[in-house]
Amino acid sequence: MILVTGGAGFIGSHTCIELISSGYDILIVDDFSNSKPEIVDKIGLIAGKKVRCIHADATDKAMLKRIFNENKIDAVIHFAGFKAVGESVEKPLLYYKNNIDSTLALCETMQEYGVKKFIFSSSATVYRSDNKMPLDEDSSLGCTNPYGWTKYMIEQILRDICVSDKEWAVALLRYFNPIGAHKSGLIGEDPNGIPNNLMPYITRVASGKLEELHVFGNDYPTPDGTGIRDYIHVVDLAKGHVSALNYVNKNTGIEAFNLGTGRGYSVLEVIKAFEKASGKKLTYVIDGRRAGDIAVCFAKTDKSKKILNWEAKLNLDDMCTDSWRWELNRK
Ligand code: UFG
Repeated sequence: MILVTGGAGFIGSHTCIELISSGYDILIVDDFSNSKPEIVDKIGLIAGKKVRCIHADATDKAMLKRIFNENKIDAVIHFAGFKAVGESVEKPLLYYKNNIDSTLALCETMQEYGVKKFIFSSSATVYRSDNKMPLDEDSSLGCTNPYGWTKYMIEQILRDICVSDKEWAVALLRYFNPIGAHKSGLIGEDPNGIPNNLMPYITRVASGKLEELHVFGNDYPTPDGTGIRDYIHVVDLAKGHVSALNYVNKNTGIEAFNLGTGRGYSVLEVIKAFEKASGKKLTYVIDGRRAGDIAVCFAKTDKSKKILNWEAKLNLDDMCTDSWRWELNRK
């Protein structure tokens, strides 16, 4: 059985579906701090199987022990964590405490029960901003905000565990920019409040919930002046976790893998693709640059292709079509 922390969240929920359809048994732990309990039923509906979920905080070690006592856990996929960059700058202690405590509680419990396969939700944000593009897994590391540093520190903690005990098998999955939603329209990204990220903001402007999109800067050294990112469909990303699980089942040690498409799109290109997919005209204004943003960020994906035997298949049009369907369906 695979323990999935944060399994009701955006990436977690899509991954649960792919895990079930690949034959894995799963158990979700989620505190619903940034997701809804209904998502668990939706996962079950899509996967055609009832899904078990324990409503709890992944930092709660007594609860984790109970779970490991009562279930035969073979591996852990750890999604649970706070992830808003801006909020992390305002509340660093909250971010360090939550993100690092949950990882420590999980790893300690795993060590006690002899469970040593771990997949960690890391981020492209662990790469220093002055690397040459595309970013490969050996690019230099360093962050600009507490959220990023939690990912960086957790990666280091996991590396140290693997040095101390050669039986551990860890995959650090460095996500680029996940967007899109499940084709069923039943699950997708559902951030609390006003979205920080581009795609959920776009879908809310298109549906009239927000007035206009703010494009953060058109004076970057890119062909159209707007920022370029490696957007990846969340279903492709979810499948990357199944590949990583198959990998840690057969190997020991620790490896980092980029999960991106290997190609970048500018904000204006995303707007255009979304307008085509949705048939909606987006109102937008050009604003100044957002603090902390870089001009261009995209992945080199050769390592994931070669070692995980995984690559992203869905394109920007699929991402926009599926994000829009989800926006129309979500309540
Ligand atoms: N953007 C806008 N307007 C918006 C929101 C975003 O123009 O309202 C632009 C940004 O300036 C950037 C691009 O759209 O050029 C993408 O921005 P996102 O906020 O969607 O994504 P980021 O690349 O800034 O950040 C994402 C994740 C982080 C993660 C990082 C890793 O949200 O959690 O990728 O590289 F750390």
